[in-house]
Amino acid sequence: MGLRLRFALVAITLLLVAVSSSAVALPESPSSAFQPSNGCGCHAALVEQWRPSMHAQAISDPLYLAKLEEANKATNGELGAFCDSCHSPIATMSGEQKSGKLSAVAKESVGCDMCHQTDGTEGAVPGNVSITFELDGTKRAQFDDAVSPIHTTAYSAFHRSAEFCGNCHNVNHPVNGMHLEATYTEWKNGPYAKEGIVCQDCHMTPGPGVTKPNPGKAAAMGPDREHIYTMTFVGGNVALGDADLAEERLQAAATLDLEVGDTIAAGEKVELNTTITNVGAGHYLPTGLTEVRQMWLEVTAVNAAGEELMKERRDFGTVLKDKDGKYPVELWDATTIHSDDRIPPRESVSNSYDFEMSDGLVTVTAALYYRSAPEELAAKAGVDVPTTTMVSATKTVYSSAEEKANAQDASEPEQQTGIPVWVWGAVVAVGLVAVAAILYSRRRRG
Ligand code: HEC
Ligand code: HEC
Ligand code: HEC
Ligand code: HEC
Repeated sequence: MGLRLRFALVAITLLLVAVSSSAVALPESPSSAFQPSNGCGCHAALVEQWRPSMHAQAISDPLYLAKLEEANKATNGELGAFCDSCHSPIATMSGEQKSGKLSAVAKESVGCDMCHQTDGTEGAVPGNVSITFELDGTKRAQFDDAVSPIHTTAYSAFHRSAEFCGNCHNVNHPVNGMHLEATYTEWKNGPYAKEGIVCQDCHMTPGPGVTKPNPGKAAAMGPDREHIYTMTFVGGNVALGDADLAEERLQAAATLDLEVGDTIAAGEKVELNTTITNVGAGHYLPTGLTEVRQMWLEVTAVNAAGEELMKERRDFGTVLKDKDGKYPVELWDATTIHSDDRIPPRESVSNSYDFEMSDGLVTVTAALYYRSAPEELAAKAGVDVPTTTMVSATKTVYSSAEEKANAQDASEPEQQTGIPVWVWGAVVAVGLVAVAAILYSRRRRG
């Protein structure tokens, strides 16, 4: 290794050591100040909801560990402490992160007591684990009348705020401060913040969208409540989180509109237009780790013979750039964003495509897909990451009016609608009986 290169590496390492310890301002505390989830039996239903969540596995998540290894390799092992501080704050606060021997409660990552002993945020904009704690064993949440035989309770307005989540859901580069993940800021600048709809309203409820009220009990022996939150924290992780809930959430995030003419002569240009609207996410679509997440629109046109006349793919994501203008680069090398074509909340993105019409009929399909991680990272982590179809639309284009009529004739029997035969039968039968009755009564009278 050249002297200059070695000097540069040492300088970068020193800078990272200096900054990664100051980028995160967590207090020191033994892990015994936090109670593991097996002590939360009175809230068994909530424990069951939290267990499959990504919060419960943030520090052991194989996709995380694969990326962590890359980060450590690229920075001489210096970046890991920064990563772990958010994926398991207790591991950092207790010093167990340094020793590598994590207690049960530190292994629980973003767990019950970590969240319920939180009491605020440090600084003007939350991010980089800007959490403050009141480590007195008191559990804080939204009720001002909660009474527990086991622990003290306190009302916390902070738990009702998006800043609570923003403490971790805004990630800034530990050295140059650039925004790497900005879910909180995307929400803050969007329409949901103005309407007072916070993260909790969408991510701590039984289904997608704002499903309120959700009546229930906060604790087995507690009173019935008009509304309680769930500890599910569902996002888009179909591979490692609760697959059914994640799929349902992804499928509620966007609508897709496909416009195309229905009769176009063979040899002519078929023009089509797609519009995707972010109707369900309170932030950009996709959000979070957007240089890893994959969301793409695929548009295909296939004729009756099965020939593909067109296949186009458009990706929605963030591409990061380093100080020399090179892209794409990894998180740790990034200094600016090269491009960002994600879809802001309640906004739409349209695309136009065309292909040459063939004889007969052509099926046009547009589909929006999502994957938590690219194949390469998934393989490295040994995780099977499925692709989810978020939404899709299909239309048929015919080369002539006769073609359309033929195709519709062929499919007629299945499309039959209107009044079923048995209804007609019943009407006729009732009519006959009525006529017979009238005739009979006339003859009797006459
Ligand atoms: C990521 C942080 C986080 C984690 C992890 C978490 N909670 Fe919560 N919890 C909250 C927030 C925030 C609220 C209040 C939501 C609101 O009012 O907007 C809450 C509400 C509650 C309530 C009040 C009743 C209800 O359901 O609304 C109880 C009890 C509770 N949590 C227990 C638990 C238990 C037990 C666990 C572990 C299995 C857990 N929490 C995990 C953040 C968390
Ligand atoms: C102490 C830090 C911390 C806090 C506080 C926190 N989160 Fe998270 N959250 C994380 C980490 C780390 C992950 C990523 C875990 C992983 O995928 O390995 C995550 C993942 C998620 C996901 C993605 C799940 C998926 O399926 O991909 C959602 C949704 C989420 N959090 C919602 C929330 C909400 C809502 C709040 C506030 C009530 C909150 N989080 C508070 C650290 C935190
Ligand atoms: C109006 C409902 C709504 C609100 C408000 C909302 N979200 Fe989401 N969120 C969604 C939906 C739908 C998805 C699934 C689509 C996606 O991945 O973006 C999602 C996905 C996520 C994911 C997973 C992203 C991924 O691809 O891994 C995280 C993390 C997340 N939200 C965090 C938050 C945080 C933090 C807040 C508050 C600052 C918040 N959300 C506010 C609806 C909402
Ligand atoms: C300040 C908090 C914070 C820090 C620091 C942080 N992360 Fe995360 N990480 C998150 C949150 C929040 C998510 C979930 C976002 C989403 O769902 O897209 C996440 C998700 C991930 C995921 C996706 C896991 C999955 O199963 O899909 C990987 C990989 C990851 N982080 C790696 C890292 C690495 C490597 C570092 C250090 C360079 C790091 N993180 C530092 C908060 C943090």
